[in-house]
Amino acid sequence: MGKKMYITTPIYYVNDVPHIGHAYTTIIADSAARYFRLRGYDTFFLTGTDEHGQKIEQSAKSKRKSPKEYADEISKKFKDLWDQFEISYDRFIRTTDSEHIKGVQKAFEIMYEKGDIYKGEYEGHYCISCEAFFPETQLIEGEFCPDCGKVTTIVKEESYFFRLSKYQEDLLKWYKEVDDSILPKSKKNEVIRFVEDGLNDLSITRTSFDWGVKLPSSINDPKHVMYVWLDALLNYITALGFGTDEKLMHYWPANYHLVGKDILRFHAVYWPAFLMSLGLELPCHIAAHGWWTRNGEKMSKSKGNVVDPKTVADAYGLENFRYFLLREVPFGQDGDFSQKALIDRINSDLSNDLGNLLNRIIGMSGKYFDFKIKSENVKKFHEKELKEVEEITLSLEKYVKEMKWNKYLEELWKILSIANKSIDTYAPWSKMKEGRNDEAMATIALVANILTKTALLLHPVMPKTTSKLADALGFEITKENFDKFITNCQLLEETIIKKILPLFPKIEEPLMQESKPQEQKKKEEKKDNKEKKIEGIITIEDFFKVSIKVGVIKEVEEVPKSKKLLKLKVDLGEDRPRQIVAGIKEYFTPDELIEKQVCVVANLKPAKLMDILSEGMILAAKDEDGLTLITPMKRKKPGTPVK
Ligand code: MSP
Repeated sequence: MGKKMYITTPIYYVNDVPHIGHAYTTIIADSAARYFRLRGYDTFFLTGTDEHGQKIEQSAKSKRKSPKEYADEISKKFKDLWDQFEISYDRFIRTTDSEHIKGVQKAFEIMYEKGDIYKGEYEGHYCISCEAFFPETQLIEGEFCPDCGKVTTIVKEESYFFRLSKYQEDLLKWYKEVDDSILPKSKKNEVIRFVEDGLNDLSITRTSFDWGVKLPSSINDPKHVMYVWLDALLNYITALGFGTDEKLMHYWPANYHLVGKDILRFHAVYWPAFLMSLGLELPCHIAAHGWWTRNGEKMSKSKGNVVDPKTVADAYGLENFRYFLLREVPFGQDGDFSQKALIDRINSDLSNDLGNLLNRIIGMSGKYFDFKIKSENVKKFHEKELKEVEEITLSLEKYVKEMKWNKYLEELWKILSIANKSIDTYAPWSKMKEGRNDEAMATIALVANILTKTALLLHPVMPKTTSKLADALGFEITKENFDKFITNCQLLEETIIKKILPLFPKIEEPLMQESKPQEQKKKEEKKDNKEKKIEGIITIEDFFKVSIKVGVIKEVEEVPKSKKLLKLKVDLGEDRPRQIVAGIKEYFTPDELIEKQVCVVANLKPAKLMDILSEGMILAAKDEDGLTLITPMKRKKPGTPVK
């Protein structure tokens, strides 16, 4: 084997089912892996799922499942989809795999022993959805996450920190020295600016929840679990056996980490700093792609505009979809998904430019030469065209190396344009009439050779379709043939063309039902289903699991440094009043609350808010006029159940 190649996708969170964004990253990575395999690289392609953290714990809870049960279920959905999509991964890693956990603990130990990890206390605004802290200055309206817009919570807890600040200069040096460390290169400046602004040490453990990797036993601090991003990023080396059998570590460093632009910071700042601390080589390239939108809007479950990759692939063909995803948008930029754009690509690029070309060659070679193709006179009559074609095909690899698949395909299509033009210009049918059979054969053979090159070069993107094309032309897609026809620019020997069914039937009209605009959907739902106003109907048994009781507010105290929270003592008819922390400070003065009767969820698992224990939840209703507490019409004894 020649050189090695290690390609990774991000590992996907299991709080959501796969959508077009996940499919995009995975298909780019798959095409790259297929390309390098075809070029003879010893390739290792990794994908998988990211299963720890508060976000997953919460999603599982809302589905009344254990986090592991829930992770098993969604992880399987990803794996099944990639298998249906014939994604050529070599390993599907799960962060709940025991070998991964051991590797992560080993890494923590090494960094700790090196003095790069220390214990301290953290207080900050945390976005559970992004699993990240944000400084107050970055929050929207002092409260909302700047990345996803969701409300952040203040987390104050004991934490271990990674000395990220120590690596600031080394990181800047790396960006400067390795020109293409971050792709597209334009994205590098954003990263440099972020690092130049100053790096704070990174909080890398949590005590407020359980669902994560425990610290190594040598550190003996069982209440901490690791920060999900530390756990997740390490998958790129634990998948190779880091910290366990190290069997595949010869694939390290990664040649390409494919990521979306939203997670570039984690990969281009934190990850290389962790690697420096571990004394490991840095990845060769971190390649960040843009986002897919729907009609210009961000996709989200609540908007109901998420594109399901399986539905698209089933309707339009998996390989057509792969071609579209890679061809439609320049790498790094955002793209909009529409059926029209997809149909245009299929009908114009695939059906007209490529499919019809093959049909014309099958037709002419059959009519004039019994399907026989001979390349002996191609050089003599088409030297100029051949030269142009070779120049293009030899130049394509650089686009793959920069992950510029859109440019790669655009350039590849130029050789198809040369082929189509040559047929029109040299009109083999006229040459035949004039008895210039050699010339007619030369043009047909030129085109057959261009199709040969196309089959090889398009193979990583459309593996099955191009294998059919190669079969029609009488050769196989192999590394040897890539070397022969692309690298060494040889021509086809005498071959017999096979008649095959059209590779790309035209598509006349959209094949998927457009999802209805949200407004219309809402109206219909209301009409159909008046009583089902609430999302997710529950049974009466479900409802009875919630214990709601009447309580009386006995004491009210302010929570220092909090704009929203009050600490209450509420009598629920028990031996002592309950302590409840409630976000109602903006709406009431303490006097207004004393002796008020309220409804309290009494069997909620106690939780800490700003380090204060809260043993229940007070029910309230809020609209644009403000917030009111839910209170019985007549006074009832404290502890009376609400049914
Ligand atoms: N678990 C982390 C990654 C850890 S890697 C060590 C994560 N997971 S994710 O499931 O939320 O996202 C995975 C990838 O999907 C990201 O690269 C993200 O950019 C990509 N996409 C999610 N939605 C997308 C679009 N709408 N369009 C394109 N890709 C987007 O982040």
